[in-house]
Amino acid sequence: MLKIHDNYSLKDNTTFGVNIAAAWYAEPTTAEALVFAITHARERNWKYYITGEGSNLLFTGDFEGLIIHPLVKGITVVDDAATEVLVKAGAGENWDRFVAHCVEQQWYGAENLSLIPGSVGAAPVQNIGAYGVEAKDIIAWVEVINTKNMQPEVISNTACGFGYRDSIFKHGEPGKYIVTAVVFSLKKNAPLLLDYGNVKELFIQRGTQDLHNLRETIIDIRNSKLPDPCETGNAGSFFKNPVIAANEFEILRSRYAAAPNYPTGTGRVKIPAAWLIETAGWKGKREGDVGTWPKQPLVIVNYGNATGRQIFDFSEKIRLDILEQFGITLDREVTLIS
Ligand code: EPU
Repeated sequence: MLKIHDNYSLKDNTTFGVNIAAAWYAEPTTAEALVFAITHARERNWKYYITGEGSNLLFTGDFEGLIIHPLVKGITVVDDAATEVLVKAGAGENWDRFVAHCVEQQWYGAENLSLIPGSVGAAPVQNIGAYGVEAKDIIAWVEVINTKNMQPEVISNTACGFGYRDSIFKHGEPGKYIVTAVVFSLKKNAPLLLDYGNVKELFIQRGTQDLHNLRETIIDIRNSKLPDPCETGNAGSFFKNPVIAANEFEILRSRYAAAPNYPTGTGRVKIPAAWLIETAGWKGKREGDVGTWPKQPLVIVNYGNATGRQIFDFSEKIRLDILEQFGITLDREVTLIS
């Protein structure tokens, strides 16, 4: 029997650590219990929302519905071939524990995604990415419940519509599919991907050039730049890096010759949002208990008792300022729930 909690504090359920409450809360541990939770909400006309570990969510007020936090666990080998392995992980597994397991087993592919907060189930939704790798590069298929008919379905990598921090689980009909497990295709041997920023230099300094040391290098880089959500509330990058047209970039470059830029190969140019935010004077700025992280201003932090609304208002000031100063609109990476 699934326990449904009333008036449940979500303070420890999001990495922003804001003190808000859900009218109801449940943690189903099987696909069947997940179906039960949704049906329970629908029969009562409650709104419901599915969360992972809350590492990409900002609630701006109490949630007058049922929060469902699936805790479907388990990591199993589905197929073990000569050069690659198919590994299935339950949506409720912690992402970094899954990466650590892959590295211990000498399975290549997930190591650059070390230490990203959140659950396995959130990885395809958000198409999480870091240091030159995205979840889409290693996902074989995603197992879901289709909430139209409450039946299990398998969605192949190509059918997931993956984009930059995007997938069909986010766009299209959000909420149609609920991820119960993800199957990853990992290699038993593969070249290590070292081309992002100073990864290669720091990796070489570490000595032994193996999978384990690459994971440790990524962990060191993340720890040196990004706040630990266990100590300072945050949800990673608050905004996406904007992608602008080539002619807009020329205008930007005429004003800021040193503007960092990454051509996307489609005639458009990606500009680091962190650079825009720093150049606009917001790096390390703090208002009450909300601020931008001094070492990476794309991360907005809760220094203690900030409310979701205060974090949102602060983020909107940044957005407006970037629009005024550069004519560039920043899109949120964080999902807002109001
Ligand atoms: N930059 C600045 N000032 C700063 C920091 C960075 O101007 O204080 C500029 C520099 O030009 C730097 C560039 O921003 O070269 C890129 O910085 P960084 O390598 O830290 O990456 P990012 O683009 O800001 C993205 C992801 C991160 C991921 C890193 C590393 C997005 C929205 N964010 O950040 O993902 O860890 O790359 O791959 O794409 C997340 O999604 O929550 C997240 C943390």
